[in-house]
Amino acid sequence: MTMQNFPPSFLWGAATAAAQIEGAGHLDGKTDSVWDAFARVPGAVAGGDNLERAVDHYHRYPEDVAILKELGLDAYRFSTSWSRVRPDGGAVNPAGVAFYDRLVDELLGAGIDPWLTLYHWDLPQALEERGGWANRETSERFVEYVQSIHDALGDRVKNWSTFNEPFCSSLLGYASGVHAPGRQEPRAAVAAIHHQHVAHGLAVQALRSAGVTNLGITLNLSNAIPLDPTDPVDLEAARRFDVLQNRVFLDPIFKGAYAGDTLEDLAPFGLTELIKDGDLASISAPLDFLGVNHYHDDQVSGYALEGADGHGGGTDREAASPWVGVEQISFPHRDLEHTGMGWEINPDGLRHLLVRLGREYPGLPPLYVTENGAAFPDEVSADGHVHDGERTAYITDHLRAVSEAIAEGADVRGYFVWSLLDNFEWSYGYEQRFGIVRADADGPRILKDSALAYARIAQAAIAGR
Ligand code: NOJ
Repeated sequence: MTMQNFPPSFLWGAATAAAQIEGAGHLDGKTDSVWDAFARVPGAVAGGDNLERAVDHYHRYPEDVAILKELGLDAYRFSTSWSRVRPDGGAVNPAGVAFYDRLVDELLGAGIDPWLTLYHWDLPQALEERGGWANRETSERFVEYVQSIHDALGDRVKNWSTFNEPFCSSLLGYASGVHAPGRQEPRAAVAAIHHQHVAHGLAVQALRSAGVTNLGITLNLSNAIPLDPTDPVDLEAARRFDVLQNRVFLDPIFKGAYAGDTLEDLAPFGLTELIKDGDLASISAPLDFLGVNHYHDDQVSGYALEGADGHGGGTDREAASPWVGVEQISFPHRDLEHTGMGWEINPDGLRHLLVRLGREYPGLPPLYVTENGAAFPDEVSADGHVHDGERTAYITDHLRAVSEAIAEGADVRGYFVWSLLDNFEWSYGYEQRFGIVRADADGPRILKDSALAYARIAQAAIAGR
């Protein structure tokens, strides 16, 4: 694949998240996050896996940064752990901050631009015990944490993202319960949505006053495709899905208001009363970029039909529905190939999403694909390599889709593959490997064929600048 369709300044990166790779779950002062606690609930995480050691990035970060350098990438997207930096959501823990100091210095020393995400789902458990995201006060604690990260790293980190995929940390965490904290309370989930919005707004204000000039948020967005576009029941299910997956997040941030149908759908769950004067103005403060995470589209039906729903977990726990207020919804599979997660492979969905975002949200800031990638059950071959042809094809085809979106006018400025390393895939534990680099807590890091292919593409594009 040639990359002449990418603008010369296009950014080439790889992404991870703190809880999924760091390990050191209780080292140097770090206390439980909601995920540490959730992993102890029997059946919550496949195989009873926990985050205690993960892939030991906490100790192996020099090796991991050296890999980024060897791949020749421009940027590394990672997150900081709130319960490492402010254990229990309380006072700053200098030993925790020091880890990120070392990591950022290592990245800069290797010529890799740090892209820091402040919240990638690991709320301190102590704050969950005070109501978690269902409690508006959590947004105030969040801003204290944000301030402390910026105080420590703001001299060197220039690219900031507030939240990663608030869909998951609200609706999967508080409605379906397949993610931490595992609550199945639709009203709490709706409160979590709004309070994460409030926290985002407050963080934007704080970071702007501190002088941050590249600031955004990452959302996981999906095209809702009605099973039968002539059937009002399927159309209504697709609309309800679109509200909860996409618009309840996009509209307040980029239009300054929840849409009328969103307010109506979620009024029975208390949304209206949660909104305080000034909230929407603060939530919609201008951003410099929108991070788009995209893995698959969703074909949606309003009837009970067979098929993987793509929103569950690896968990044995009985899941409730994340689709708050929706009586009947299902996600019948189309006749497409699937990844190890059971997710449809349809690169054109990414092209379509990137193009339509710009059309539906006039004035949208530039886009970055902050996550895209695939899990497959790859193995280390006898020759010591990982021949992950399916992942290589997935990444290459999605990059082509991004270049097509750009050709159609989408303002996409960069791509971060998910993930640099195999890691803790939430309720699926370690059984799903997303890395372009084979990684376990022990044992060697192995550059998979997909890492080499992605590096070739990125390096050719970078060399042509
Ligand atoms: C979204 C999340 O941000 C990331 O943490 C997760 O591992 C990937 N998607 C794959 O499911």
